[in-house]
Parts: sequence; C-alpha cells; structure tokens
Amino acid sequence: MITGTAGGQGRAAALAFAREGARIVGCDMKEAQSAETVALVRAEGGEMTAMAPVDLSNEDAATGWVNDAAAVYGGIDVLYNNAALGRIGPLMGMSTASWHFTLKYELDILFFVTRAAWPHLVARGGGSIINTGSIIGSRGSDMPMAAHGAGKAGVIGLTAHMALEGGPSGIRANCISPGLIANDMFKDLLRDPNDNMHKQVRTSPLGRIGRPEDVAGLAVFLASDESSYITGTNIVVDGGQTLGIGMSFGSEPVFAAPPEPETLPAAQGEELAIETPDGTSQAWLFTPREGAGPWPAVLLYTDIMGVRPLFKAMAQRLADAGHAVLLPNLFHRLGPPVEPPLSVKNSGEFGRLLSMAGTLTKETIERDSGAWLAALAARPEAAEGPAACVGYCMSGSMAIWTAAAHPDRVNAVAVFHGGHMVMGRPDSPHNLVGESRARFYFGCAETDAFMTADHIAGLRAALEDAGRPHEIEVYPGTYHGFAIADASYHPEGGERHWRKLVEFLA
Ligand SMILES: NC(=O)c1ccc[n+]([C@@H]2O[C@H](COP(=O)([O-])OP(=O)(O)OC[C@H]3O[C@@H](n4cnc5c(N)ncnc54)[C@H](O)[C@@H]3O)[C@@H](O)[C@H]2O)c1
Repeated sequence: MITGTAGGQGRAAALAFAREGARIVGCDMKEAQSAETVALVRAEGGEMTAMAPVDLSNEDAATGWVNDAAAVYGGIDVLYNNAALGRIGPLMGMSTASWHFTLKYELDILFFVTRAAWPHLVARGGGSIINTGSIIGSRGSDMPMAAHGAGKAGVIGLTAHMALEGGPSGIRANCISPGLIANDMFKDLLRDPNDNMHKQVRTSPLGRIGRPEDVAGLAVFLASDESSYITGTNIVVDGGQTLGIGMSFGSEPVFAAPPEPETLPAAQGEELAIETPDGTSQAWLFTPREGAGPWPAVLLYTDIMGVRPLFKAMAQRLADAGHAVLLPNLFHRLGPPVEPPLSVKNSGEFGRLLSMAGTLTKETIERDSGAWLAALAARPEAAEGPAACVGYCMSGSMAIWTAAAHPDRVNAVAVFHGGHMVMGRPDSPHNLVGESRARFYFGCAETDAFMTADHIAGLRAALEDAGRPHEIEVYPGTYHGFAIADASYHPEGGERHWRKLVEFLA
C-alpha cells in the first residue's frame, strides 16, 4: 500500500514496486493523476489499483482505504507512508489553522493509516512500514518551514516507536528522509535562476537535486527481505545536501550581487623560470609601463588561489607605482598555476586549495624565497639593495618567514588580511619577526576568523618586543579577503589597501 501515488515519489514508487512483482494499492486526493499512475503501471504489465479522491486526513477515509485493500488482497505486507502536504510560512506570522493543517497532513495521516494497517500486518506475521520524513525534520531549513519541520521530526520520532512496538510482531518500521527531490512544483521553481532552491543544488556535492527514483529504490529495499534486520532507522537520501550546509559546489549565488571591484587592466608580465633547490619555479616580472628603471624590488605573494589574471593585474598596478615586482608561483611543486583558477567560494575547490596550501611550509618558503630574491636581484630592472615582500591571506605568514630567513635581503613586509600569523608554536610567524630587519605594515579585516583581536594583540606585542618598526591597522566593515577582487572584496577597503601599500613601499 502506497499513499499519495498521483505523482512525485509516490508514482515512482508504484512503478518500482510493480517492477518487483508487488501488487499495489495506491490512493491520492488527485483523481486524474492517480488514474494516470495506475495506467502507467499497468502499461508496464504491473498490477495496481488506486482509490481517488481520498483524503487521508479524514480518519474514516483513511481506515476505509486500508480495510478495503486488506479485504480485497487478503492482507497487507508493506505500507509506504509517502503522502504529505504542508504549508510554509514564518513561525511568527503562522496562523493556528495553518499550523494544525500542516501537522494534520504531515503527521496525522500517517498515524491514521498506520493504526488501521497495524492489525493486518500483525495478522500476516509482520511486514514493513516505510515512512517519509525529510532532512528538514532533523536539521531545519533556511526557508520558513517550522511547521513542516516539526511534522517531519514527528515522523522520524514516530518511526522509532513503530519499530519498538512492532518488533515483537515482526513489523519493521523505517523512515526515509529525502533532500530536495524533483516534483512538478519544484521543477517550475527551479526554472527561475534567482530562486533560493538553486542554493540546494549548489550545496550538493553531487551538483543536482534528487529524482523520485532515487527514493523509490530505497523504499523497495526497505520493503524487501534484504533489509530484514533493519528497523527503526532514518535513512537520508539527499545527494549529500546535508553535508553541504554552508558550502557551495556549483557556481556563485546569482541573487547576491557582489560589490563591483575596481577593474584593473589585464597584464602579462615577463615569464621567468627560476631554479629553486626544489625544482623550477615559474614567476612573472612586472615593471612600470612608463619611465626608466631600475626600480626598488618587491616580492609579491598571492593568496591561496595562486597566480591568476587578477594577481597579474595587481602586480602591474603595484609596478606602475615604481617597483620591479616579482610574482612567483607559490605552488610550483604541483605544476603551473591551475587554469581556470580554483575559487575559495566553491567548497569542492576550496578543499583542493587547502591541500595545495598544505604543501607550503616555513622551510619550503625559506628555500624558495632565497631563489626568488636572488633572481630578482639579478635583474637589471631591479634596483640594488633589499626588497620588500607583500603577502595576502595565507601568504602573510610566508612574507614574514621570508623576511626572517633573509634579514639582509628583505627590508619591508606588508601583509593584508593575513591569517595564521599568531599561533601557539615556536615557529609561528609572529615569533620570528625579531629575526628580520624589516619594518612591517599589517592591514587587517575587521571580521576575520584567521586574525582575531587576540591575534592582532599578540602580533603587536611580538613586534614591540622585537623592536621592529610597525603599523597595524584594522579596516572598518571589511572581511577576510577585502583587498582581493575575487574574494570578499570591499571597494573602500580595497582602495585603501592600495594607497597604504604604495605609501608604505615608497
Ligand atoms: N520533494 C521533496 O523535495 C521532498 C523532500 C523531503 C521530503 N519529501 C516528502 O516526500 C513525500 C513525497 O513528496 P513529493 O515531492 O513526491 O510530493 P508530491 O506533492 O508530488 O506528492 C505527494 C502526494 O500526496 C498526496 N497527498 C497529500 N496529502 C494527501 C492526503 N491527505 N490524502 C491523500 N493524498 C494526499 C498529494 O495529492 C500528492 O499527490 C512527502 O511526504 C514529502 O513531504 C519530499
């Protein structure tokens, strides 16, 4: 017996069970679509009858449907409680009528049908009950679905008690909790590119919403003897959507317009192949588009997303302020820069970026930076004397390691929204500032989990203890990544970063 067979998962289940040889009794409030399902099953040679219209929220109607079916077929082996109908709306604005309606159509119908079916299952020596919950029943939703969530949580809880009470009679009860599964209504919503549902696709590691068949297969398994030792469980069928909360695997949100970054003209630089103790490192040299050198040298480190057109354009902007700027590929051990560049805004790519960053250590940066600084010093475009080192985010630490490892070569370090610079380890960058002979500038984001107020205080204390000239500024209203146009860019903070950087290096 399957409830709600007029469409969606109920129809897919009817077809799947029929293919396994089950004799199916369906029901639905929708008469025409219910008849369509029966026709589809029969067209495949399956056996199905359905009662429609029937409203299972009516206790007598629910009991009548069950008893009629049991009488016609001589008993019930499997009950699949699929039907449900909820109302959405914010909790505070929800009427008592809507609240009761939702619980009635999410939870009462399941209770009415199951209670009616119970004696028939017991009479057969047991059977399988499959309930339909939802991932929302255990984790909630950012959509206003409080009543629906409560109803589905009720289904999950009720399943456990069905299993406990039914076990001695051979009745197994399990719950399937689907994530977003296509049905007629959702198909329409998904046509709108701005609809919030796209977020569920983006937050799914599999990059799609579910199909009704994805659920039906599990229902068939839970009905079968293959699952004879499974009872009282809640099985999630969501393509990993639950894992993806707060993550994004697809393209960027279309509904949140990012702030317009200052557009920088594309720049190429001169590509160099620099020999390091650990192999050849690609790097790009940028010099001012006007004027004659040599110019003071700057070693510019990228953030975790590596060398990409944006950073080349940034290197050129810095060069145009009167510098010979070397932009090395920090990840050269892993090959050339990834094309197209990986983004921290994409959760799948973020994991890959983190593992790439994991290949960089204080020791590798010390070796690499020695080679980069030497290559820069050998260029006629670069003025004699020490160089400055500039880092962003992840490479803030690397800029400090570079200055500490080459005190005679690096005389200035500028770091913007740097992270992990103050850690409880002896080799933490902040503990090494005293090994450098550089002056320091730090532009910090106001909100930055990687550089909290405590971290800033620790860094300031370390610089003071070491007697290094320094300035630390917090940029109001900014987040980690504020200076980078493809990160959490902040137009005002981004421009201020340019002014400060040019001023600091002048
Ligand atoms: N589609 C999803 O993304 C999703 C996610 C989580 C959980 N679920 C659950 O999966 C089940 C199936 O969802 P769907 O997307 O296939 O829905 P659907 O709306 O396409 O199908 C449900 C069917 O149940 C019928 N029905 C509802 N109340 C009834 C009643 N009182 N009496 C008789 N028939 C009734 C409806 O007429 C409808 O045909 C539901 O329990 C739903 O809450 C769906």
